[in-house]
Amino acid sequence: MKVDVLLGLQWGDEGKGKITDVLTPQYDIIARFQGGPNAGHTLEFDGGKHVLHTIPSGIFHSDKINIIGNGVIIDPYILAAELRKLRDKKVTPEHNLRISKRAHLIIPTHRLLDFVYETSKGASKIGSTLKGIGPSYTDKVSRSGLRIGNTLMADFREKYEELKESHFRIIRSYGYVPEELSIDKMLLSEYEKQWFEGLDYIKDIPLIDSELFINESIAQGKRILAEGAQGAMLDIDFGTYPYVTSSNTITAGVCAGLGISPQKVGRVLGVFKAYCTRVGSGPFPSELFDETGDILRVKGNEFGSTTGRARRCGWIDLPALKYSIMLNGVTDLVMMKADVLDELPSVGVVTAYKIKGNRFDFPLFESISEDLEPEVEMLKGWQENITELQNWSDLPVAFKDYIHYLESNFELPVSVISLGPGRKQTIIR
Ligand code: GDP
Ligand code: IMO
Ligand code: MG
Repeated sequence: MKVDVLLGLQWGDEGKGKITDVLTPQYDIIARFQGGPNAGHTLEFDGGKHVLHTIPSGIFHSDKINIIGNGVIIDPYILAAELRKLRDKKVTPEHNLRISKRAHLIIPTHRLLDFVYETSKGASKIGSTLKGIGPSYTDKVSRSGLRIGNTLMADFREKYEELKESHFRIIRSYGYVPEELSIDKMLLSEYEKQWFEGLDYIKDIPLIDSELFINESIAQGKRILAEGAQGAMLDIDFGTYPYVTSSNTITAGVCAGLGISPQKVGRVLGVFKAYCTRVGSGPFPSELFDETGDILRVKGNEFGSTTGRARRCGWIDLPALKYSIMLNGVTDLVMMKADVLDELPSVGVVTAYKIKGNRFDFPLFESISEDLEPEVEMLKGWQENITELQNWSDLPVAFKDYIHYLESNFELPVSVISLGPGRKQTIIR
């Protein structure tokens, strides 16, 4: 069997968590391959709402194995909080969650560094979630990071103190006193104490060589779904750099983040919203600054699952989506949140970008330019509540026309349509 991939095609928060949970019954293993607690994946079922940050979205299915892959970075304090919440809900993650020994750690001073770097950028700040993502991946690449497998070694504390001291030197060079800084409203010393308690708490989750486990599972014919975090436009190489996250969010990241060969990649499910959002700074060509943008934000409840920040809202962006589809090798499209557009008399689509009078179908390097102007086409809205519909044949004609319009532009089928946050509000064609 091959590993199917499910990932975001926009700037994150497309609804990856919901769809992963919905599709989990079709798989044996769900694995996260990159990102860390900057992610916030929301699941809604049986009247409850659950937000996952580090743990794959298949965790509520007790018969499915969930893996935090080597490409993920882990903050034990945040992971412990996630595990506690799951246990409150009678989930037993010690039975169906595994962590790669090679996954890197986010230590408390990574979060301080994130704050220090962001603050020093002033108006050009990235809008980071301040979870320590950039600094932890930086240490991984610069070969000074600590992996969760290191916690099993006798010299872990010594290595930790060395890394912390090296961070202290950077923090001091920016004019801050590390001991006076706080994380989540706690002084460093208190947060650090809780971080180590978190490390202790997560000890009953097995640490494994997940690349071996996954390849053996493939050989045994097990069905595996790789769950992405963030989205293609936040990819470190192809996103709107420098306003991106610090990992490869695209399909290519699955091979490195789980340890599988490209030949083992199967279907690629590209998840996108019927409109578009972005949280944090950076270019967003289709952004709406008017009342329609406010309607999308309120109706779509566009407030961050991780930070609570209001998300910027705009029309669907075809050049960005075509680019993401190309980069990811998408085989199936999954469209989310069309219900948010229900009331609108017309629905906008950004069809191209114009820079200095020239028209572009794809985001080019120059797309960061502030002079970029989106070309917008308005399509007829369906103006009907679609949240309870269960069959393709029941969908309003104007809505089907919208889907056909996208399918012909992308030359791909929209195989799954989500019409609400709930598990059951999903049409699989
Ligand atoms: P993720 O990071 O890609 O998993 O997405 P988030 O969970 O951060 O954000 C998606 C939000 O939209 C969550 O609040 C979901 O509960 C919600 N959601 C998912 N699918 C739909 C949908 O089809 N319609 C509506 N109205 N909400 C949805
Ligand atoms: P999920 O998995 C939306 C954004 C941040 C910021 C930039 C860099 O829920 O879709 P970072 O903390 O990674 O250094 O922040 O990336 N960002 C996300 N935006 N959804 C996410 O994850 C995000 N993870 C990071 O807002 O602009
Ligand atoms: Mg999210």
